[in-house]
Amino acid sequence: MCGIVGAIAERQVSAILVEGLKRLEYRGYDSAGVAVYTDAGQLQRCRRTGKVVELEQALQAEPLVGRLGIAHTRWATHGAPSEANAHPHFSSTDLAVVHNGIIENHESLRGELQALGYVFSSQTDTETIVHLLHHLLKSHADLADALKAAVRQLHGAYGLAVISAAQPDRLLAARSGSPLVIGLGLGENFLASDPLALRQVTDRFIYLEEGDIAEIRRDSLQIWDAQGQAVLRDMVQYHEQAEAADKGEYRHYMLKEIHEQPKVVQRTLEDRLAADHVLTQAFGPQAGELFGRVRNVQIVACGTSYHAGLVARYWLEALTGVPCQVEVASEFRYRQVAVQPDALFVTISQSGETADTLAALRNAKDAGYLASLAICNVGTSSLVRESDLTLLTRAGPEIGVASTKAFTTQLVGLLLLTLAIGRARGSLPAAVEADAVQALRGLPGLLKQALDMDGQIEKVAEAFAEKHHSLFLGRGEQYPVAMEGALKLKEISYIHAEAYPAGELKHGPLALVDSDMPVVTVAPNNELLEKLKSNLQEVRARGGQLIVFADRDAQLENGEGTRVINMPHSHALLAPILYTVPLQLLSYHVAVLKGTDVDQPRNLAKSVTVE
Ligand code: G6P
Repeated sequence: MCGIVGAIAERQVSAILVEGLKRLEYRGYDSAGVAVYTDAGQLQRCRRTGKVVELEQALQAEPLVGRLGIAHTRWATHGAPSEANAHPHFSSTDLAVVHNGIIENHESLRGELQALGYVFSSQTDTETIVHLLHHLLKSHADLADALKAAVRQLHGAYGLAVISAAQPDRLLAARSGSPLVIGLGLGENFLASDPLALRQVTDRFIYLEEGDIAEIRRDSLQIWDAQGQAVLRDMVQYHEQAEAADKGEYRHYMLKEIHEQPKVVQRTLEDRLAADHVLTQAFGPQAGELFGRVRNVQIVACGTSYHAGLVARYWLEALTGVPCQVEVASEFRYRQVAVQPDALFVTISQSGETADTLAALRNAKDAGYLASLAICNVGTSSLVRESDLTLLTRAGPEIGVASTKAFTTQLVGLLLLTLAIGRARGSLPAAVEADAVQALRGLPGLLKQALDMDGQIEKVAEAFAEKHHSLFLGRGEQYPVAMEGALKLKEISYIHAEAYPAGELKHGPLALVDSDMPVVTVAPNNELLEKLKSNLQEVRARGGQLIVFADRDAQLENGEGTRVINMPHSHALLAPILYTVPLQLLSYHVAVLKGTDVDQPRNLAKSVTVE
């Protein structure tokens, strides 16, 4: 989704801004631009549709030389991806703005500003902000004062960066609903929508909070909160190496991230397991007491994270007896929800900034839930900061738009949650917990075995490259695994893929099955295996091409139109995590065969910060 980078320094900033944009590329975008206050005393900009590298080449041909600048990658919401709609947007020649988010009242503002004589050169909502600010500068001499007045008129969500040729000793920022972080340097300061963009210039960051406005100068910083009060915000220092900086030996980030799963699952389990039980404190100091009172769980998430929630429902209801509902955040947030007594509100998110998930959490605050818990990969995210309890998934930065290691670590976190709730409520026998804990310790090794099957799966992928449609089947907790497998395939290979509970096949989708329709099935050796085998017969009888990932003890055999890939035997609780891996690899190899942009698939964004 859109990315923001800003810099004010003694040195030239163009290269820093472009490098920052490159580091945000993984979020997905369709155009990019930079505005610099040049040493010649003018605001100048360069914008390009397509990749940041095109902007970089344009800047090499015609450099923008200056020490103050803002930059942006845009993911189109209002107006098509075009140079005119790309940010930064200007008002006259002396004011430039970049913006993440959506201004809901942009149409009425546009009308008012046009009546005042402003001429719009784009279809964006952002352009209303820059003209509004320009207009307010006529009555507010100071840029920060004008920005404070401007944001009072904006409805919607924004992260803003502003520079002005009239006040070139400062970079202004405003945050409401779209994250912004200030990077601190020596005699230079920076701004970005994600600290990852600035890791090459600093390891010290200050996160702006909702409603904050910041005036950033080379050697000073002033922040005002939503009430206009001057405030000090805490500084965070990062020590860990930015692991995501390169792809290492791998051809794509996605493949690297798939292969990181044993390591990051191990990390997610560290310090969280005692010899025979889960350390409930891992969720926060009050977790033990709160979990003991939980009588219901409401899970809310989007995309891949939603699929993790669907798996967790099977675990929670089976192991703790606690009823659980799972809903996509964009639906949940606009619905009148009947809140159950003592219900725990759980959000799941890789980024912790997904607009719908965050809005659902905010709605839930006053709705009467027992407490909120975030299962999230980013410790400094809004979701984590606004939740009562947290479990960090420690997957490390995930760059591939298609989520892989974030999903498996979410599943690990949700299994820990299930065990912790079960024990706190006294509904889970100690022996069952001890057995699950022991199995979890073996999970990284099991995932390595699944990754060793890569060569076999690459061959299976060949059967897909020419297909246009596919079905994914699973039963029980493998049904959401099939949903996640189908999502992966459509995200990166653009092949239409649908997931069905295998028992539902004959109620419609069977009509689609023919020799052109690969049917992928996940078949661990559980109590539903025999039923699943019958479902597979139904497919074979219609000429469907079966690809079955099955427990090696499941006694499923290769045959005409049936390709069986034997999976290592696993504890039943771990099967959804284990069976996810070959489906990730399958999608990856199909996408590579099709030659798509694996890490940045068309039309998608990594972090969806608009609704
Ligand atoms: C986008 C990403 C998905 C992700 C979803 C939810 O659609 O492309 O991979 O699952 O957002 O994101 P979150 O950060 O909340 O997990």
